[in-house]
Amino acid sequence: MTVGITLFFTGLSGAGKSTLASIIRTKLIEDGQRPVTLLDGDVVRQNLPSELGFSRADRDLNIRRIGFEANEISKNGGVAICAFIAPYRATRREIRSLIEQHSVFIEIYLSTPLSVCEERDPKGLYAKARSGEILQFTGISDPYELPERAELVIDTSKASLTQACQQVLDYLMGRGLIDASRE
Ligand code: ADX
Repeated sequence: MTVGITLFFTGLSGAGKSTLASIIRTKLIEDGQRPVTLLDGDVVRQNLPSELGFSRADRDLNIRRIGFEANEISKNGGVAICAFIAPYRATRREIRSLIEQHSVFIEIYLSTPLSVCEERDPKGLYAKARSGEILQFTGISDPYELPERAELVIDTSKASLTQACQQVLDYLMGRGLIDASRE
């Protein structure tokens, strides 16, 4: 069986996780080697009935559930593309060790600076966080612990979307996980 993969995008809100994850999803569907599932923080939080907020305990539970789901998908030979802030290092490490037992875990840290994410502010949430309307907002009033061993680090304020996408595909090709001849 083809080895399964979890591609785990982490970074601040507005760093570009959802946009890049959805382009990569299209590319991997075209690659056709594995079924592809996209698990996106905003989508999951909006669509799955959930009591979860943004305390450390709730974020950890959110990420552990996603880790469980991603593990099921990639253990069965699929690709799980996850796009979550996932601000805590220990939790990211925990799901990595779970998934690496059966498949490949690739952490992609979108290192886009806070100032750029805040300027983009696609959902107006940074403004609300600054004014105190939203509490515990990552980067403003809640921590983001930098990844120590991400396989890829991409700053979307420096790389274009096309370049960022290519960087991910090149990495996958370099590891023999997708077929370069299909490019
Ligand atoms: S995580 O911390 O548990 O990984 P997740 O990725 O699911 O977060 O959800 C983050 C999204 O929720 C953000 O992109 C943003 O749209 C929204 N959001 C609402 N409140 C907050 C908050 N206090 N901190 C971060 N994101 C928030």
